[in-house]
Amino acid sequence: MHKNKGSVYYGDYLQLEKLLDSQLPLSRKYTDTTNGECHDEMLFIVVHQVYELWFKQILHDLNAILDTFSQTFVPESELSSVVQKLGRIKKIQGLLIGQFDVLETMTPMDFLEFRDLLIPASGFQSVQFREIEIKLGLTTDGRQNVDREFFLGRLNESDRKKLTDLETSSSLLKLVEGWLERVPFTNMKNFNFWDEYQKSIESILHDDQNIILANSAHLSEAAKNIQLDNLEGTRSTFKSLFNEKAHNELVQNKQRILSQKAILNALFIMLYRDESMLALPFQVLTSLMDIDENFTTWRYRHALLAQRMLGTKIGTGGSSGHQYLKRAADNNRVFVDLFNLSTFLIPRSRLPIIPTEIKKQLNFHV
Ligand code: HEM
Repeated sequence: MHKNKGSVYYGDYLQLEKLLDSQLPLSRKYTDTTNGECHDEMLFIVVHQVYELWFKQILHDLNAILDTFSQTFVPESELSSVVQKLGRIKKIQGLLIGQFDVLETMTPMDFLEFRDLLIPASGFQSVQFREIEIKLGLTTDGRQNVDREFFLGRLNESDRKKLTDLETSSSLLKLVEGWLERVPFTNMKNFNFWDEYQKSIESILHDDQNIILANSAHLSEAAKNIQLDNLEGTRSTFKSLFNEKAHNELVQNKQRILSQKAILNALFIMLYRDESMLALPFQVLTSLMDIDENFTTWRYRHALLAQRMLGTKIGTGGSSGHQYLKRAADNNRVFVDLFNLSTFLIPRSRLPIIPTEIKKQLNFHV
């Protein structure tokens, strides 16, 4: 604990003089006899500044989480602190999404009064937002083409360098992938869990096929075959999980991101989340999904805000505006593989029975 070393004054501690002297509307600067200061530009600046402050806090917590996952072994005590920090990021995201309500009290016409003064400045130049994206695991390569051009093109030299350098360090996605690959519970001694799992899947799909056949009396041959083809599609999706070559092809085609081993271990955590050893890893995975989902929600809200303010006009940064932002919301996902794990879940009653000895290990904290 640090000791108090003397008198502290509220305003000095919080640097309020600097902070509260940092809202400088351009419409005030360019006020002349025909145009006065635009009342709502203050709101526009304050809202953006508050966002940037919260981005700063998210990065602060994200950096600590990255440090923890950079270790070759992550002790359980540190994992609970990761879950707590991820939880904080989720709460902040709630505020970030809610804040659009305040900005939307500004009408599009009030915005138009000062919008042109902002060109070519744009959210494209929010370095902290990009830092969060990159640290989470969004790569330049993973972005839409238009995004890629604007991504670096709108930045000044030093910001561009900062972000390109950042891309060479390990993202949370990469570190979590490594952590998942190292989780030591699959391929246990004389029990090959995944062989047993595949047998369960085969028997479930077999049952599904029988259900289709039994209920096809009133169906045309073509309708029956569509159902059987769909079932075949499900079978080959399951196979792609267990066949390394098929999995790697999906990674190459950008349909999957994580390695096969990481996905299998994440699936194991999902399936056996009730075992005490897997409770925290499960919370880590669900928190990462929550954060991904919250960012997507933020992107959709922001795209709607842009449409409300601009309709189909282009953005001050030169993109197609609403259209671009909507596509970015669909495309810029990081932990999408964790969402897609649900494809491979099976009912609890069909899970392979784990030998008692292994079950005991999963119930002890080591
Ligand atoms: C009147 C309010 C706003 C409008 C009309 C608006 C509009 C836009 C548009 C059209 C873009 C696309 C880039 C461009 O062509 O400029 C953009 C990007 C962006 N804006 Fe906003 N925005 C608004 C408020 C905000 C706020 C409050 C934030 C909070 C920090 C923000 C953060 C961003 C970010 C981070 C991007 C880059 C997104 C990406 O590339 O995925 N915007 N904005």
